[in-house]
Amino acid sequence: MRTQVAIVGAGPAGLMLGHLLRSEGTDCMVVERQSPEYVLSRIRAGVLEQVTVGLMERLGLDARLRKEGLVEEGFNLADGERLIRIDVAELTGKTVVVYGQTEIQRDLMEAAPSRGLEVVWEADEVALHAIDSDAPFLTYRKDGAEHRVDARFIVGCDGFHGPCRKAVPATAGRSFERVYPFGWLGILADVPPCHDELIYANHERGFALASMRSHTRSRYYIDVALSERIEDWSDDRLWDELAVRLGPEAGARIVRGPALEKSIAPLRSFVFEPMRYGSLLLCGDAAHIVPPTGAKGLNLAASDVHYAAEALVAYFRRNDADAIAGYSDKALARVWKSERFSWTLTRLMHRFPEDGPFERRMQVAELAYVAESRAAQQSIAENYVGLPV
Ligand code: APR
Ligand code: PHB
Repeated sequence: MRTQVAIVGAGPAGLMLGHLLRSEGTDCMVVERQSPEYVLSRIRAGVLEQVTVGLMERLGLDARLRKEGLVEEGFNLADGERLIRIDVAELTGKTVVVYGQTEIQRDLMEAAPSRGLEVVWEADEVALHAIDSDAPFLTYRKDGAEHRVDARFIVGCDGFHGPCRKAVPATAGRSFERVYPFGWLGILADVPPCHDELIYANHERGFALASMRSHTRSRYYIDVALSERIEDWSDDRLWDELAVRLGPEAGARIVRGPALEKSIAPLRSFVFEPMRYGSLLLCGDAAHIVPPTGAKGLNLAASDVHYAAEALVAYFRRNDADAIAGYSDKALARVWKSERFSWTLTRLMHRFPEDGPFERRMQVAELAYVAESRAAQQSIAENYVGLPV
């Protein structure tokens, strides 16, 4: 078959891009390795910046998000004794919306058939060909048959482990990476949140985050050494640890319940440059990873998709090749600022095993500065709500 844009991956990046292109009259289709059920079973951060909310609104897919999402006017940094509230609404005039990424995924998937967005699920052995030409194509296997999709562009929305980034010749790309010496152990439970805003805590026993999905569903995390095994963390042990790390006030308000999901995820900062090679564009986790501190992953995917859709539509409407040529620099400028923020907040809120007394004093001083300085709070707030696209 033939299309204008072949998209690899039906995560949030691939589906948001597919819907945007369809809404602008550009032909596209999506190939995804997994089944719809598998894709909907992935649990990920759920704090939406304006760019993501705005994109869903532009697509006319924001009804449920407006109804069920929790509008958050601030969040908190805890330093073991006190809560330092960052009044995001007052400092920036903007808010974020707490709405699970799984729900965004569901909204995008459910709208696909009625909007004419074709998604091929369970496509095996997706491979890219001739990406350095004007006539790239994809091949994949499904139900025992080999298929071919000819396109003018391929967009890699296939996450960190997908084939698209790997199709760029080694001499044409460069990776930047930092792997962190701990992971986040997360628990999802049907219990009311301990606080109506998120709390990121730096306690002497380690990091903790109190987050939520709704008024009745909570999401909590602690950081653990990468050698820890999930089997060693009973629900009780995890609730006990959260109660200590979140500090006396929030800790006392935790409502415990059985885990709906519990897992350990590693933390990584990663950027691949450039985000375009020939007729291949990369969006989302295919091109970059942020540690979850600050919840920038999905929002960065949304801003990439915004720039990519703009460039592709300009190309097909006005034959504007410069728009395609400019995609990578435009997207990377915002990516690196989000990488900086995620890295800084991770550095501030975690006890790194290699840290000595000097590094610890730096954290104490920085948290004290943030607590006292409106300028410091404003800088954190404007990054948290999301820098402009
Ligand atoms: N062929 C087809 N599809 C593939 C292949 C492949 N070989 N490899 C991976 N994929 C699919 C995955 O199954 C997944 O559904 O690509 C999709 C990538 O989706 P995500 O991993 O969700 O990445 P992205 O859409 O960029 O979303 C970014 O989601 O992962 C979080 O932290 C991330 O919040 C951020 C957001
Ligand atoms: C989450 O709710 O899962 C979440 C929230 C904020 C983060 C990371 C994860 O920074």
